[in-house]
Amino acid sequence: MTLLDIFPSLRSGGMLPRLDPAVWPRETHYDPDGRITVGGVALADIADQYGTPTYVLDEGEVRERCRAYRRAFPDAEIIYAGKALLTRTVAEWIGDEGLSLDVCSAGELTTALSSWTDPRRIILHGNGKPFAELETAVNCGVGRIVIDSLTEIPLLAALATRPQQVLLRISPDIDVHGHPAVRTGVTDQKFGFPIGSDLVAEAVERIVRQFNLDLIGLHCHIGSQIYDPFHYGEAVRRMIGEMARIQAAFGITLGDLDLGGGHAVAYRSGDAEMNLAELADIIDDGLDAACARHGFPRPKIALEPGRAIVARAGVTLYHVLSIKHIEGRTFVTVDGGMSDNPRVALYGAHYEAVVANRHPTGPQMTATIAGRYCEAGDILATDIRLPADLRPGEVLAVPCTGAYHHSLASSYNGVGRPPIVAVNDGQSRELVRRETIADLLARDVG
Ligand SMILES: Cc1ncc(COP(=O)(O)O)c(C=O)c1O
Repeated sequence: MTLLDIFPSLRSGGMLPRLDPAVWPRETHYDPDGRITVGGVALADIADQYGTPTYVLDEGEVRERCRAYRRAFPDAEIIYAGKALLTRTVAEWIGDEGLSLDVCSAGELTTALSSWTDPRRIILHGNGKPFAELETAVNCGVGRIVIDSLTEIPLLAALATRPQQVLLRISPDIDVHGHPAVRTGVTDQKFGFPIGSDLVAEAVERIVRQFNLDLIGLHCHIGSQIYDPFHYGEAVRRMIGEMARIQAAFGITLGDLDLGGGHAVAYRSGDAEMNLAELADIIDDGLDAACARHGFPRPKIALEPGRAIVARAGVTLYHVLSIKHIEGRTFVTVDGGMSDNPRVALYGAHYEAVVANRHPTGPQMTATIAGRYCEAGDILATDIRLPADLRPGEVLAVPCTGAYHHSLASSYNGVGRPPIVAVNDGQSRELVRRETIADLLARDVG
């Protein structure tokens, strides 16, 4: 029998709440005053210094996730999906760790190029690439461009002044049963060419006719928040089948297979996440079986994780603005909401939240955390256990907010976007400053 069995009140009383390493950066601790620290910096001090809301990003966690991918997939190319979060410094960290980078606009490309010297490690995506962006990409020498429509083929051929490597995006008809907005592997959606279709054959034929386009492989991206590695095994089998069909029809042997991203992370304790070792085994087994079956040589594999690299490195800080008890429900309103975290409204995502500025020891209450924006749906989290004596001015921290938060943020209601503050080894520094009212007005030309 343990002390907790004898004194169950210790669980919610005098003990520090558990900060699950599946959800928080691994360098998350409590300081002697009971305040939460990330990367050696107290979150309450960051809230004081930089204001709130603020995105905190743990550099060590981002780097460690890059290394975990490289350890699990030593023979594969790991391409970070910049759409999850891209700043010049994040691009630098990713580059230092030996990853390549996937961008999907001239904006992301320019951000990357301002800290990267080698555009050959950049790959351009997008189901709708404006002509000017294709031109920018070709002119600056991006390594690979993923073709997503027949229209792009003659445009690219007209632009390329040297051989341009391209991949063809295929939808492999794999349904991962996620939110409709992220089921990108099925054929009935806007991305890519349906597997086995005449459209694929037509696209290949048109590409190989262009002397300056070099078709090196196929690409697929089957969805988001996928925790069952089996789906990737299936993707490998189907994609190798498609590569073998292309070989039979056109006599070309494609050497690259890019399996996209979509690996799940835990947003709350107990959420399923992708196990990289299992994923590596399943991809390997799928390759062995499919290549043997079709008599096709093993291609070079690429993976494009975004969320799984940066999500857990991010923590968002808010100040509590007010606490209201309405019809038996407690609303804790904070100074951010749907514009810094649109994932709740977009995807029905669920988050945890804790008090960061002190070690709460007394009784708890169950609360709904409401955002400040003028939408009834602006709710950040529900059924959150918080100290019953919570007061306006205290700091709440929401973990696992490094991916698709800053990159999806808006300035709704005329509120500027939060800064990104990096932490590492006890130091903090601003990577992106807060968007001010002057910034917003600067765009309004009257
Ligand atoms: C083509 C492509 N690759 C990679 C990703 C990254 O996905 P995730 O961040 O879920 O790993 C996305 C996300 O939408 C994508 O569209």
